[in-house]
Amino acid sequence: MIPESFIQDVLARTDIVSLIERYVPLKKGGANYMACCPFHNEKSPSFTVSPSKQFYHCFGCGAHGTAIGFLMEYSGLSFRDAMRDLAQQLGMQLPQEDASPEQHVQSQSLLEVMKRSSLYFREQLRYAPTAIEYLKKRGLTGEIAKQFGIGYAPADWQNLKSVFGTHYDDPQLLEAGMVIQNDAGRRYDRFRDRVMFPILDQRGNVIAFGGRVIGTGEPKYLNSPETPLFEKGHELYGLFQARQAIRESGTVVVVEGYMDVVALAQFGFGQAVATLGTATTATHIQKLFRHAERIVFCFDGDNAGRKAAHRALENSLELLADDKEIRFLFLPPEHDPDSFVRDNGLEAFHRAVHEAMPLSEYLLRELKADLNLNTAEDRARLIHEAKALVPKIAAPVLRLQTIRMLAEESGLSQDEVMNALELKEGSPGRRPATPARAPRSAKLSIHRQLLNALVTYPDLCGKLPGDIQDLVGQTEEWPVVQRLIDLHDDGSHNEAALLAHLLERYRDTPQQDIVGELIALSELNPIAEDNAAEELEGILRKLRLQNLDAHILQLQQLAAAGRLDAAQSKHYAELLSQKQKLKSGQQHAG
Ligand code: GTP
Ligand code: MN
Repeated sequence: MIPESFIQDVLARTDIVSLIERYVPLKKGGANYMACCPFHNEKSPSFTVSPSKQFYHCFGCGAHGTAIGFLMEYSGLSFRDAMRDLAQQLGMQLPQEDASPEQHVQSQSLLEVMKRSSLYFREQLRYAPTAIEYLKKRGLTGEIAKQFGIGYAPADWQNLKSVFGTHYDDPQLLEAGMVIQNDAGRRYDRFRDRVMFPILDQRGNVIAFGGRVIGTGEPKYLNSPETPLFEKGHELYGLFQARQAIRESGTVVVVEGYMDVVALAQFGFGQAVATLGTATTATHIQKLFRHAERIVFCFDGDNAGRKAAHRALENSLELLADDKEIRFLFLPPEHDPDSFVRDNGLEAFHRAVHEAMPLSEYLLRELKADLNLNTAEDRARLIHEAKALVPKIAAPVLRLQTIRMLAEESGLSQDEVMNALELKEGSPGRRPATPARAPRSAKLSIHRQLLNALVTYPDLCGKLPGDIQDLVGQTEEWPVVQRLIDLHDDGSHNEAALLAHLLERYRDTPQQDIVGELIALSELNPIAEDNAAEELEGILRKLRLQNLDAHILQLQQLAAAGRLDAAQSKHYAELLSQKQKLKSGQQHAG
C-alpha cells in the first residue's frame, strides 16, 4: 500500500489541468476547462476539468476522477503506475511496497537494458540489406518500420557486447532475457539474425522483443521469455501505437500476429493489437475495454484460430456489460489479416470488421456445433452445454436475450431454460462498476444530502450538533461524514479540492460510488451559498425526525405487545413531545 498521506500529497501538488492538457486539448470556458470527452464519442464538449476542485467530470458519460484517475483511465495504467508517473514528475520517489529499493533499481536498469538494445537493433537495420529486402518484400515502408521501432539483430553471437561492453556480463542482461547462458557459464545473444519487433508497455517503454527469422527457419518467431518487465498474458503488441485510433473509432481489433498489426497499420487501419502467441486472457480483455467499447477478435481461419476464438469467448463472458460489445471476425481460411488487407484492401477489411459476428451469435453457433436439433437428445445436449457458459454472461440484458434464443432452439419455454441453467430472473453475473450519473436530488437520501452540503461548504462542519454520530448512525455515509469533520477540525486541508481528496481516499471502497455521486451533484445541482446554512438545518431536522420516528415505532411495538414499563412509558411521552416541537419548528422555518 502507498500511504494515504503520500497519495494526498502528490494529488495536492499536481495540477490536473496541465496534466490533462498534455493528452486532450482543453478550452477555457468560465471557471472550468472544456473538451470533447476522451472516454466516449461525442461531437460537442461535455468534459470539464475544474482547476479549483482538481477533478474532471463528463456530463455525457459520467466519467470522473482525479489526476491519478485520469492517468489510469486514459493510459490504462494501474494505480501504482499512475502514482509513480505523477510522483516522478514532481521529483518524488514512490515509497516502496513489496519491491525492495534494490528491486526497483533493478527494474529501472532492466528497462535501460531493453531501451539500449532496441536502439541498437534499429541502428543495425540500416546496415542489413537482407533484412531491409525482406521487410520490403513484405510490403512495409521505412516509415511504418520506424513507427513500430522495427530493427535487426545481426547474425553474430555476442553483438550486444558492442552495446554494453564489460557490462555484457551483468546479471541484468540475463534477467531481461537478452542473453542466454550455457552450462559452462558462457553467454551469447538470444536474438541473432532476426527482424526485431519491440514490445512496448502502455507508456512506450520497451519491455520485450519478438524476433522473426528472415525467410524460413525454426522457430519462426522467437519471443523474449517472461521477465520482471514482461508477462505475456498481460501485454498486447501494438497497443501503445494504437491508442489514438482505438479511442477515435471506439473499436479495437485483436489479431494473432505481429505482422498482422504492422500490415494493417501500413494500410491505414491503426486500431489493431496482437496477443503474443498466447490465448486471450481476462486481463487482456479488461485492458482493452478501458480503451474501447467494442472488441473484435479476428483469428485466422485455420483450426488453431478457431480454438483461439473459443478461448477468447470463454474468457470474455464474465467481463461483458450491456454497453460493451464483443464480436468475432472469421476470415476466409486461406487468409490472415495481413494477407487479407493486401489482397482485398482497407475498405474490405473495414467492412469485414463492421460485419463481424456478435458474441451471442457465435456463442450459439459454438453450442450448436455437431448437434442435430431435430432430436430431443440433442436439444437436451444444447442446454447441457449452455450451462457451462450462459450463466457466466455478466451483461444482464444480453444474457436474457441469449436465454430467449436458447428457448427457441430447444423448444422449451424461457422459464424452463432458466430452470435448467439454474438461473433466477435477474440473478447477477459479475457487474462491472458503471459510471455514476447525476442523481435526481429528490431521490437523494437524507444522508447523501447531508454529505452534499458538508462537501460543498466544509465550514458547515463547525455547525454540526454533538450527537451527529448518533444522528447519522451506522450508515455507509458515516465514515465520509466523519472524515469531513476531522479535516475541518484539523483545518489543514485544501477545501476546494476536497472532492478530489475524497475520491482517492475512498478509491476501491464501498464509499467510492457515494463520492462519485457527490461529484455529479456538485457539478449539476450545486447548493447556493445563501441557502447552505438553512439547508443544513433542514437536513439535520429531518434526520432527527427520522431517528425519533424509529424510536417511537420501537416503543409502540413494545406497547402493543403489552411490555412497556413505566420508565419506557415516560420516555415515549417525551419522544412524542420532542417530535411535536421539531415539527412546529419546521413550520416556523418553512
Ligand atoms: P508471418 O509469417 O510473419 O506473417 O507471421 P504471422 O504474424 O502470420 O504469424 P503466425 O500466424 O504464424 O503466428 C501468429 C503469432 O504466433 C506470431 O505473431 C507469434 O506471436 C506467434 N508465433 C508464431 N510462430 C511462432 C514460433 O515459432 N514460436 C513462438 N514462440 N511464437 C510463434
Ligand atoms: Mn502472416
